Amino acid sequence: MESQSRAISGHPSASSSPALSKLRLGVNVDHVATVRNARGGRHPDPVQAAEIAVMAGADGITAHLREDRRHIRDDDIERLKARIDRPLNLEMAATREMVDIALKVRPHAACIVPERREERTTEGGLDAAGQHNTLCPLVEELRTAGIRVSLFIAAELAQIEAAAALRAPVIEIHTGAWCEAVVEGHGERAAAEFDRIRTGARLAHGLGLEVHAGHGLDYVTAGIVAGLPEVVELNIGHFLIGEAIVGGLAEAVRRMRAAMDRGRSLSTASGGGKGRGGPADSDSIT
Ligand code: PXP
Repeated sequence: MESQSRAISGHPSASSSPALSKLRLGVNVDHVATVRNARGGRHPDPVQAAEIAVMAGADGITAHLREDRRHIRDDDIERLKARIDRPLNLEMAATREMVDIALKVRPHAACIVPERREERTTEGGLDAAGQHNTLCPLVEELRTAGIRVSLFIAAELAQIEAAAALRAPVIEIHTGAWCEAVVEGHGERAAAEFDRIRTGARLAHGLGLEVHAGHGLDYVTAGIVAGLPEVVELNIGHFLIGEAIVGGLAEAVRRMRAAMDRGRSLSTASGGGKGRGGPADSDSIT
């Protein structure tokens, strides 16, 4: 696992010609947990979703354990680490509690993100420049434990230089503002935002940082950002889970239709469903 992780996310690929590096896909399963938690049960399971993502070609799995546990929960992280045979990227706030969890679970990578309880999602980048003194010991602690630290920042010169000064090996560039401008059709703003991302990726690569990108990506924006040779990993969640719902709903409805039709015909054959209704009966319907 360790040698596999190194091959997937080590510095050699980032420091060699960027044009040759493979673009990895990290699938974020947070919103599978959002749907699960809406009912408080076990379905759908983010760990099962991670297994499917890996089977379909994901290079790694990303999950954000938020302070308020609104989607991913502690046991999801433990189960992901135990069951998924790909690098786990734990997104986390820079708090004592989260660092302790990371030290216990030992994910392949820890992506430090800003977190505010009232936000709907991670709305801005980490202020690596303004929080140097707070971040420095935490980054060091994670690094020393062999966890690959990534800082989720805007593609700004001050933030990139601050990440390098903190000796974080990786940055993840926040693509949210650019994606929003693209989706809303604001061409000029989108062009300016993308220029910032391109310049930031080059600068970070030049400073020896491995460059990832994520937030708000869809098929179109992921395809565009894939053209930046310095970027070696994309982390994508919300759009993929949305697509899975839209693309997978027809199959789920077909299976439900079949289950109901079969239940009806069995019931008719046995004389109106007498004695049916227990767990064994429901099992036999599927
Ligand atoms: N990268 C980071 C650091 C994030 O915080 C998130 C959102 O959890 C993502 C990537 C994925 O963003 P999205 O769900 O919009 O694809």
